[in-house]
Amino acid sequence: MKNPSVFTEKAELRQALDQVRSAGGEVVVVPTMGALHEGHLQLVDAAKKAGDYVLVTVFVNPKQFGPGEDFDLYPRDLEGDRAKLAQRGVDGIFAPSVALMYPPEFRTTVAVSDLTAGMCGAHRPGHFDGVTTVVAKLFGLTSPCTAIFGRKDYQQLAVIRRMTEDLCLPVKIVGVPTVRGAGGLALSSRNAYLGKDERQRALSLSRGLRAAAAAFSRGERRAGALRGLVVEHVESAADRIDYITAADSSTLAPLSDEDVAADRLLIAIAAHIGKTRLIDNAVLGEDLLEETP
Ligand code: PAF
Repeated sequence: MKNPSVFTEKAELRQALDQVRSAGGEVVVVPTMGALHEGHLQLVDAAKKAGDYVLVTVFVNPKQFGPGEDFDLYPRDLEGDRAKLAQRGVDGIFAPSVALMYPPEFRTTVAVSDLTAGMCGAHRPGHFDGVTTVVAKLFGLTSPCTAIFGRKDYQQLAVIRRMTEDLCLPVKIVGVPTVRGAGGLALSSRNAYLGKDERQRALSLSRGLRAAAAAFSRGERRAGALRGLVVEHVESAADRIDYITAADSSTLAPLSDEDVAADRLLIAIAAHIGKTRLIDNAVLGEDLLEETP
């Protein structure tokens, strides 16, 4: 076990990363908002395979939360995060303040169009602008060779890939499969909000995705039929559904119920269980929906 260095200032971070680079090392960054769980730690494992120096950023980014969302409530536990990252052999942690990331003179927004119009973008106005702005800034601060993101935030990953390509940022983007806990629940920092009954009801998301994946593997390709299986499970358990969308897994273009999928189909869900908004997705024909016992 090694103790990761914790950076809170730009200059000390830059100096440490420059030293790695001048010794020929490749920096890999794992952007997070902290409250780390096994899903994040598997991003770290992927990062360790991708380069020499793994830096995890921990920053609850106010710009990606809308008014009335859970920015104030969002779990924060830097000491616990540090201990977990030490166990996993992380080299550095960057945990900046809001004042460092967004000083009063800050005026820039990075916005990706089209890909952000549907799904979470339609229900959380401004959310993805907040994500791309902070990720672009984190890339600027750390100049990584590679950055690692989870596929649980499938739309976010697609948006970040687009931004990186459009702006010719020299960063390789790697997406890591969703990690699932008991019953198939996708791991999320927001699962901490769920009570016992809610946790049970939250399983409907992965159950629905599993039902659709099973139908897909039996040969069902009608987008409406596959989406319908997910709706059936989630509708009876959730308090509110933001969306259950069948879409092209590359372009995120939504499919109508009459469309017929080819070899892959994305189904993405956002639903509220009690006061907690959960998201999940699967690319049918690609993702294995494994449960972690
Ligand atoms: O996925 C997240 O935790 C956040 O959206 C990210 C990428 C760290 C940006 O704040």
